[in-house]
Amino acid sequence: MYSEKVMDHFQHPRNVGEIENASGVGTVGNAKCGDIMRMYLDIDDNGIIQDCKFKTFGCGAAVATSSMATELVKGKTIQEALEVTNKAVMEALDGLPPVKVHCSLLAEEAIHAALWDYAEKHHIKIEGLSKPKSDISEGETEEEEY
Ligand code: FES
Repeated sequence: MYSEKVMDHFQHPRNVGEIENASGVGTVGNAKCGDIMRMYLDIDDNGIIQDCKFKTFGCGAAVATSSMATELVKGKTIQEALEVTNKAVMEALDGLPPVKVHCSLLAEEAIHAALWDYAEKHHIKIEGLSKPKSDISEGETEEEEY
């Protein structure tokens, strides 16, 4: 059911953990299963992603896709990182079963949320990046307001 690459990244996930004083942090939830992902980015003065780490309450497919996604964005520019879509990640993993495709969205959305956080902190606009929809902390604030 799972490709060798998926199994490898699930059993030996790369870049698990957190980055202290990260340039950007993004936390998102998966509407379909309720799982959570947090992504940390370390971006240098030239806009290059030097490091990327993640933590997740997601399933094995979420672990494998996030692991691959962190590998793909490392060393990239912000614009290049935006091209690391869940499709690109799935291709790099030689595919995922259809019922697990939604899991791969967590990594993409968490990277976008972390980039959004970075842009806000630096008062810049990243072209092609829109405000993350499923930010967990935003959902919590909304609940508190009601
Ligand atoms: Fe929730 Fe996979 S089932 S991330």
